[in-house]
Amino acid sequence: MEELAVKMQGITKIFNQVKANDCVDFSLRKGSIHGLLGENGAGKTTLMNVLYGLYQQEAGDIFIHGAKAEVDSPLKAISLGIGMVHQHFMLARPLTVVENVMLGRKSRRGILLDTKETARELQTLSDKYGMGVDPYSKIWQLSVGEQQRVEILTALYMGADILLLDEPTAVLTPQETNLFFDTLRQMRDDGKSIVLITHKLEEIIAIVDEVTVLRDGKMIGTLNMDESVTKDQLTRMMVGRDVLFNFKENTRAPGAVRYCLKNLCARNAKGVAALKNFSLDIREGEIVGLAGVDGNGQSELCEVLTGLRPLDAGEITLDDEKMANRPPAYFISHGVCHIPEDRHTTGLAMNWDLELNLILKCFYKAPFAKHGLLCKKAIEEYWEKTRAAYQIKANCGGDTARSLSGGNQQKVILAREIESEPKVLIANQPTRGLDVGAAEYVRQKLLNTRGNGAALLVVSADLEELLQLSDRIAVIYGGELMGILERGADPYQIGELMMGKKQEVSVCEA
Ligand SMILES: Nc1ncnc2c1ncn2[C@@H]1O[C@H](COP(=O)(O)OP(=O)(O)O)[C@@H](O)[C@H]1O
Ligand SMILES: [Mg+2]
Repeated sequence: MEELAVKMQGITKIFNQVKANDCVDFSLRKGSIHGLLGENGAGKTTLMNVLYGLYQQEAGDIFIHGAKAEVDSPLKAISLGIGMVHQHFMLARPLTVVENVMLGRKSRRGILLDTKETARELQTLSDKYGMGVDPYSKIWQLSVGEQQRVEILTALYMGADILLLDEPTAVLTPQETNLFFDTLRQMRDDGKSIVLITHKLEEIIAIVDEVTVLRDGKMIGTLNMDESVTKDQLTRMMVGRDVLFNFKENTRAPGAVRYCLKNLCARNAKGVAALKNFSLDIREGEIVGLAGVDGNGQSELCEVLTGLRPLDAGEITLDDEKMANRPPAYFISHGVCHIPEDRHTTGLAMNWDLELNLILKCFYKAPFAKHGLLCKKAIEEYWEKTRAAYQIKANCGGDTARSLSGGNQQKVILAREIESEPKVLIANQPTRGLDVGAAEYVRQKLLNTRGNGAALLVVSADLEELLQLSDRIAVIYGGELMGILERGADPYQIGELMMGKKQEVSVCEA
């Protein structure tokens, strides 16, 4: 029989009556890469947090290399050879790589060893797996991808032979993802056992040996990844039904420039330059996708474009209207709609009921108001229609927004902004956190909005999504526009711009 690095049996983990894991079985073969696939909220992180000793399960057993183990703390997990890299890194930014590693080790062995010696060992590990990490760089000087490699290096240095990686590629460009996968393969061939949490089917198909699918906290199945496994099959397991991935091509060419951004300069919350001479035209009937590694000025741009952040310089023109530094209400009244990134603080009136949140921007107009009175029936009908279309899970329209789960709150905002027939729609991560079915619906809605002649800017960390939706893709890095690519662009080319390589002045095409 094949040796199992990990065996989890009948794991149940409950958070205030929610079964995040419901009697889940999971086995990781030694020397393999095992994908853990599922939609948002399926229970993937919880299952791995149980294995890493961050949570204690209500029921079920864990076996490490065949022996039953009580993993009651991360320290225990580390002593069993388990390492975990979370979605949010836990590095001390002012310190160097080697200092960070030694901080971690202090808690393990209780003594500090010589820095030089540690740095040398790290260098050896980094070279062995082609990670290119300099032990003496300061964390803040490193790119997100490099920081992630430091986390993995730390786990390896602490002796991990079982690595749990929670959505590691979410922050990587396509190039970085490829290099990262090479590293993972090398580690596997070296006998390490790796769990790769992801919701990206392409990654499962590209790299894993086996995949386990979770849905609503339950284990749906484990598959051996041979050629016969298809994307459709995995989707069906993940979502519980078929999902269409193909949209109709945009047949209508974009029209005149609707939203003209010229030399925009703005600072972020810390007063540091976040947008540097950013210029872009968005035409009517066009979706411009904005690609970039998170935190390169995307959010500031969206805020500036909706009146939420002041401009230091530059001009925004909507048709013939000068918009720069007008209040948000001015943008709204001129048809600029916004799907914000942080939907909790800027999106909803949490204590108001859902029906009212849905018509927040048009409650004074027909059909919702007549002769100055709210028309209850029209509002209720509208709520019912919208709830069905966006699959909003709520008891009734009279519930407060606060009572909904995060994903369902998002759907209410999306519905409100998209249904208000915008002239300009600024959508920041419109499908983040949504399940596959709802995300698909939202994408279709964005395409319909374009079909109605709106100018759209869609910010997304998901390149697949941008490629699918956009007429053109603009790339931002360090607050600067790196270049604009036409529909059908090569993801690698986008990746290069995302890493800060500026596009050469456009070449003449034959
Ligand atoms: N610390 C926690 N407290 C309360 N509920 C939690 C906690 N962690 C996760 N959950 C809930 O457990 C479920 C599974 O979450 P999670 O494991 O994070 O899913 P995934 O990683 O697949 O997106 C979700 O409904 C989530 O809201
Ligand atoms: Mg998770």
